Amino acid sequence: MTELTASAADRVPDAPGAVWRFAREGRIRPGSEGHKQLFCRMLLDTFDPYKPAIIPWPTLAPDALARLTALPFWDIAVETELHTSKNMQAIADTTRDPLIREAIALNAFEERRHKVVLENMIRFYGIAIEPDESFTPPPDAEWSYLCTGYGECFDSFFSFGLFRLAKDSGYFPAELIEVFEPVIQEEARHILFFVNWAVWAQAQHNVLLRPAFAGRRFAALATRAWKRMKFAKGGVGPKAGEGSKEGKNNSAMTIEGRNFVAGGEPLTIKSFMKLCLAENDRRMARYDARLVRPLAMPRLVKAAMPFLGLVG
Ligand SMILES: [Fe+2]
Ligand SMILES: [Fe+2]
Repeated sequence: MTELTASAADRVPDAPGAVWRFAREGRIRPGSEGHKQLFCRMLLDTFDPYKPAIIPWPTLAPDALARLTALPFWDIAVETELHTSKNMQAIADTTRDPLIREAIALNAFEERRHKVVLENMIRFYGIAIEPDESFTPPPDAEWSYLCTGYGECFDSFFSFGLFRLAKDSGYFPAELIEVFEPVIQEEARHILFFVNWAVWAQAQHNVLLRPAFAGRRFAALATRAWKRMKFAKGGVGPKAGEGSKEGKNNSAMTIEGRNFVAGGEPLTIKSFMKLCLAENDRRMARYDARLVRPLAMPRLVKAAMPFLGLVG
């Protein structure tokens, strides 16, 4: 198995067997102090210090530029990064454990950096957007983080497939794809960190209180799943997402986005989901096998796979 430094592994998208592995050997019990060290070190040690200000944005041919500016979700993408960063900073600010706080604060920093990358790209290519930058601090930082984390689990799963499609179809030049590779891999790190944090945080509760925390996790996951199902349903119909900005843009990201970046080739939902599953596995394979994996989306999709052929 190839051993690379974590940063180098993140910069080699298709390096087979490239992994980040925790220095400590042996079994690590989920919820233990060792587990906390494992998932925090994963996030902290794989930090990629790229600077958005010096990203060399490639000059695009007129057709590629037109395709980029026509994508309908840049404003919601900027809003999402803003809200995600603020929600993560909120839980970091209320976390007593110094290592967990450091890791979540890094996560919040990376979300702010995603927003800057998007804004720089939007400015460079002259894309017109109207993001709503208002934000109300969450009254319950833990609940907000649970919702944000599970939301990222769903969105990242689809992003992995869309990104691969865009890469393979040549919809955008390779230089532009290369710019966003670290951003997509950071989302893989974020959801990996989040699911491990959730397991660890539950174990920190008194045995009598663990069911209540488990209930919160399930409720957060269910509300995010319900929202995404509504988006997907809105995207299939002829009036996709009509009536709400959120519905319009998320259906575009999940359903229309699939067709946008497939380069004109018809792609079934089933094929797209298979691609998302494969990309999810490939991106997660870069990290220590003892980390808990984000399983909600892969399990949901695998369970739905026999029925996906019915919806095209
Ligand atoms: Fe992000
Ligand atoms: Fe993220």
